[in-house]
Amino acid sequence: MDWQTVLARRTGRMKASEIRELLKLLDQPDIISFAGGIPDPALFPAEAFATAMSEAMTGPRAAQALQYSVSEGYAPLRAWLADHMATIGVPCGTENIVITSGSQQALDYLGKLLLTPGDTAMVGWPTYLGALGAFNACEPRYIPLDPWSNTAPEDLRAEAEAAGGAVKMAYLSPDFANPTGETLDAEGRVRLLDRAEALGIAVIEDAAYQALRYDGDPVPPILATDIARSGGIENTRTIYCGSFSKTLAPGLRVGWVCAASPVIERLVLIKQAADLHSPTLNQIATERVARAMFDDHVAGLRRVYGARRDRMLAALSREMPEGITWTRPEGGMFVWVTLPEGTDSAQLLERAVREARVAFVPGGAFFPDGSGRNTLRLSFSCADDARIDEGIARLGRLLR
Ligand SMILES: Cc1ncc(COP(=O)(O)O)c(C=O)c1O
Repeated sequence: MDWQTVLARRTGRMKASEIRELLKLLDQPDIISFAGGIPDPALFPAEAFATAMSEAMTGPRAAQALQYSVSEGYAPLRAWLADHMATIGVPCGTENIVITSGSQQALDYLGKLLLTPGDTAMVGWPTYLGALGAFNACEPRYIPLDPWSNTAPEDLRAEAEAAGGAVKMAYLSPDFANPTGETLDAEGRVRLLDRAEALGIAVIEDAAYQALRYDGDPVPPILATDIARSGGIENTRTIYCGSFSKTLAPGLRVGWVCAASPVIERLVLIKQAADLHSPTLNQIATERVARAMFDDHVAGLRRVYGARRDRMLAALSREMPEGITWTRPEGGMFVWVTLPEGTDSAQLLERAVREARVAFVPGGAFFPDGSGRNTLRLSFSCADDARIDEGIARLGRLLR
């Protein structure tokens, strides 16, 4: 069978991530890896989930947990999320919430919702690789998202038209971004909304790490700023993607979208066609665990991850040679390192793994155009103090 003759054009942009291939090699105990950006499994509220799941499966309740359900999501979880969104400055109703299988599914659906092949998406440069993967199936063109850009909206529109489509969306992770760890300040969020309004486009706010702030003052979500400007969630252009992956547990695949109800209604139709609904048992358990302990649990995560971030920043200050700079994230899981121009971090990784037994993610993968080869991403979420000290010391020696 010659599959090439039957594959859809969109598959041309689907490729195995170099990083994933590389990460497979890192499962050896003597390698200190700062590559994976995953939560520390020791911090999962496993007992709370065991209890919640067993209660949900006991007696007549099991019928609900195991049955088909509505595409919008489990109503008590949507109600908890509407209350939760209000606590972060986003007053909304359950009609403004749809449950998704992680925020990754939300990104996939938003690509389908907004992008026709040839359309233009503005994205961070670098940006979350999984967002590019999700949007790529819709064959968009990417341009850098810069809230402070002075390019006239008419020029951007004309370029997008010449490229065969229209500017449709700006996608960003404004808090402790993956991969840079950087946060867009309140003024930047206003500028971004100004530009989005001038262009008439949607803003996708990926809030995967928003709850994990370790210091500094919280910046209101873009959706909150949008509501304050426009008078209510039904007038907004911002689509907020939330996730329980970094706060409770990623394996349950529970995330949500919060937006104006016409957006939610269309996402529900897309979800109906794609997978009918997210797993009922996982939603029921998530609602119970979130209601019982979300704030306390997240406060504990902040203490542990915040201390690891401090440890990594201190080790970098001690160990990195001249000419190397890095971000100082106020939250999240990542530090972004910039090496001198001309350094290739993908080649460096090969040597780092072979000679120093330490690993990171080369930064080039996060740029839609493959630039940024002199950058790399370090994650501090899963390493203890001793491994952070030793791993950064090894990296420093190699770089020197
Ligand atoms: C910025 C960002 N957005 C979205 C996701 C997807 O997370 P999930 O689908 O588990 O909610 C991730 C996962 O690492 C991420 O880093």
